[in-house]
Amino acid sequence: GNHYSEDLPLKGKKILITAGPTYEAIDPVRFIGNHSSGKMGFEIAEKSSELGAEVTLIAGPTHLQVDEKKIELIRVTSTRDMYEAAHSNFEDTDVFISAAAVADYRPKTVAEQKIKKNDPSLTLELTKTEDILASLGEKKSHQKLIGFALETANEEENARKKLKKKNLDFIVLNSLNDKGAGFKSDTNKISIIYPDKKKDFDLKSKKDVAADILNEIIELLNA
Ligand code: CTP
Ligand code: CA
Repeated sequence: GNHYSEDLPLKGKKILITAGPTYEAIDPVRFIGNHSSGKMGFEIAEKSSELGAEVTLIAGPTHLQVDEKKIELIRVTSTRDMYEAAHSNFEDTDVFISAAAVADYRPKTVAEQKIKKNDPSLTLELTKTEDILASLGEKKSHQKLIGFALETANEEENARKKLKKKNLDFIVLNSLNDKGAGFKSDTNKISIIYPDKKKDFDLKSKKDVAADILNEIIELLNA
């Protein structure tokens, strides 16, 4: 007989993932964005699916494609779109993984016409976006919630604040201290921070980092 599917540790689990940047419109042709590639979130989505999970991936603007046909891909542009997609898929999910580099601010108003360079200087007024992860942290009942953090100072302390404030099960701290980690790179060096412990990992490919993160999630779900 074929026992293969019985060995999949995430079989029957629903995993919801955000990935990539969000773009906030300034006028019909311009936006505020960031350099997130979306790679980490896409690797987590592929690995989750390989491990048997039912995966929904909400992706901000990125050229990445999903190889795994079983993954439901929802493409969004703005933080508000990502917020709505996340909330409308949250209820029956088992795990939410927030790998997106969400814009913190958006222009207070979007110009209806393309802005002309009439003036020697231009000031854009910005206003805070929705915090997707924190809002799901308030809503959470049975779901496991995983966040990411990239800090340039007081790394662990700041990551712990986010862990608590957003009501997370653990937070993945991306270390800036090593070459070859971060936004555009294919590798990452992470620590996983729980309320009561911390695990440090070596620098490795984002594919292998995804596997490490999913091992932690499998442990959480089986605990
Ligand atoms: N996040 C989110 N919605 C936002 C901002 C962040 O869902 N509007 C999520 C990110 O996907 C990440 C976590 O929150 O998993 C932490 O993001 P980060 O940018 O490190 O923290 P912020 O809360 O935005 O705080 P700051 O940028 O001031 O450090
Ligand atoms: Ca932020």
